[in-house]
Formats: sequence, structure tokens, C-alpha cells
Amino acid sequence: AMIGKGEHRHYMAKEIFEQPQVIGDSLNALVNPSTRAVSLPDLPFDLATVRRVTIVACGTSYYAGLVAKYWLESVARVPVDIDVASEFRYREPVLEDGGLALFISQSGETADTLAALRYCKEHGQHVVSLVNVPESTMARESHAILQTLAGPEIGVASTKAFTTQLTVLACLTLAVARARGAISAAREAELSQALIEVPARAGEVLNHDERIRAIAEDVMLARDVLYLGRGASYPIALEGALKLKEISYIHAEGYAAGEMKHGPIALIDDSVPVVVIAPGDSLLDKTISNVQETVARGGRVIAFSDADGVERMKDSAVYSITLPAVDPFVAPILYAIPVQLLAYHVAVLKGTDVDQPRNLAKSVTVE
Ligand code: G6P
Repeated sequence: AMIGKGEHRHYMAKEIFEQPQVIGDSLNALVNPSTRAVSLPDLPFDLATVRRVTIVACGTSYYAGLVAKYWLESVARVPVDIDVASEFRYREPVLEDGGLALFISQSGETADTLAALRYCKEHGQHVVSLVNVPESTMARESHAILQTLAGPEIGVASTKAFTTQLTVLACLTLAVARARGAISAAREAELSQALIEVPARAGEVLNHDERIRAIAEDVMLARDVLYLGRGASYPIALEGALKLKEISYIHAEGYAAGEMKHGPIALIDDSVPVVVIAPGDSLLDKTISNVQETVARGGRVIAFSDADGVERMKDSAVYSITLPAVDPFVAPILYAIPVQLLAYHVAVLKGTDVDQPRNLAKSVTVE
């Protein structure tokens, strides 16, 4: 069927604004309506026996996997290995029998990810794919699939596929945590409640669209942009930088905030916007210290935080966006949205081809 852009100028905008809906759809498929607990589709192996998880993906899907590594290790207490698919098999990874190998792909057709999947299948792994296209090659070749219900994604730069991947990965984390006895029933109920509220919170985040467009008028003049985050916000910094590069052609780099003093701080002056992903988690104090180091060198900080964080950065940040205060577990899903909007508006202001950026393909089917 033909998919229109509705009231939007670009597919990317339509897809960004669809996120509350498709996150909700993806969640509803995995949350039991009466108990409000996460329940995954039946898997042909027992999650309780999984001793190691290997995650492989490319591009934005890889960054979803990186967030899942933080979640699976901190919440489900299971060790996770992760790699980009184009490196994975060439390092001849050591895989113990019975491990879980998880492939994340919007299309289910990315050549390197598919090759990694076949390698893991030959090496005794339980192969699970998280795909948006259930008829895809990866889905067909896996022992089990998990599905994002994002609907067709037309914009080359991935948006709703990413946040729905995160949503399903959060559900997987809770299921693994429960199977391994790593989480109390009370904590599990808190985290699933936080997840259930994500669609509504995502709607609130989208209300900042106009304000982010105004910030984009400044960012569009930059030659380089730095994105910083710690913990599970680090992959969101990487994703923010990727989005900006992909569609606005401005050079951007995502960095772990604490690693900034080992290099990128040398680049900071008043011509470099520094986007800080700073949800109200246990790392906020440290991130704020990094913000102060940046400001001391003339950096112009754009802060994404909750009301408390914004208040604490009010003397340092040139711009700030106040996001809803949420359980830090679900913050990566929500903080992905303002970085998408920022990249989108910068690209529109620069007049680039937002939905079909030069040199990029929606699905990379050659290695
Ligand atoms: C291409 C697309 C990206 C996507 C990546 C992985 O680079 O432009 O948006 O994240 O491939 O694609 P997949 O379909 O495997 O998620």
C-alpha cells in the first residue's frame, strides 16, 4: 500500500511523531493486560539457562544493542558481548554452547548482520532476531523472533525502528531478569509500569518540537557537534551524532562524557555545540561535572535533562530542554526523541534531502 506523509513534510517527521503510537503497539504485544507484566512469545529454549548474550547489529540497530547491553548487565545480571556485524565474525569470537545470540535489524536483510547470524547458528547459539519485517531473511533463519511493530519505515535515517527496538529490548531485559531470578517482583512491577507509561511520556517529549527547531537554527551553523552521555545515555549520544551526520552532513561525534578529557576536550571552543544527554540517574552528578569542564573551555552546552537537571545546569547550558522525570531505566527511549528532532530540524534548515540522504541506503545488502 502507498504510505503517505500525512500532515508532515517528510517521512522522517511523520515517523518521529508516530513514536508514541508504535512504542505503545510494540509494548502491548508483550505486556499481559491483566497482570501488566511482560511476557515474551514462547522461545524454543529456557531463558533461565542463558549464561551469556551476544548482540550483533549495524548502524542505529547497533546502538539499540548497546543500550540493551547496559540493561541486560545491570538489571538481568547476564554478561553481554556486543559488536558491529562487519567486525564480529572476523575476530573469530569465542562462543560457548547454549549462549543467546541476538541480532537486531529493522530490515532483517543487512548482509553483515545476516552473515553473523549464520556464524552463530553454526557455533551452537540460540539465535533470536529482533526485526521490524517478520518475513525477512533473518526472521526466517532464526530459532525465534522478536518483533518491533513500528510499521514500514521509509526515511533512511532510522527513528521509530530504534525506539521500538529499545522498547522490545527493555521487555526482553525484564523477561531475562525474571528467568534468572535477578529482580524482585516489586522492582519488576515498577519497571514494567515505567515502560507502560513511555508512550504518554514520549508524547510530552514531542511537545518540545518548536523549541528544538529554534535550537537547530544555531546548531546548523556549526562545523562540528559533540554529543555526550554516560551509562545508557552514551549510546544515545552516539545515535544523536549519527542522526546529525546522516541527514545534515555536519560532522558530529558521540562520546562517553567521562572520556571527553582524553581527547575531544581539545576541540572545544565556542564554535562547537555540545549536546548533553543527562537524565536524572545515578550518573547525573558526574555528567554535570563534565558539562562544567566544557563550559570552562568556552563550549556551548545544549542540555537535555529533567527539571532537576536543567535547574542544576542553568548557569552552564546555553539551551536546555526539560524532559519528563522518569525511572532511569526507560530514559534512553525518551531521550532518543529530542536528538532525532534536533537532527531533523538542522537538516531541514540546511535544505538537505532528509528522507534520502546522499550516499546512504535504507538497507545495506552487500558486505
Ligand atoms: C543502514 C540504514 C540505517 C540502519 C542500518 C542497519 O545504514 O541507513 O538506518 O540503522 O542500515 O539496518 P537494519 O535494517 O539492519 O537495522
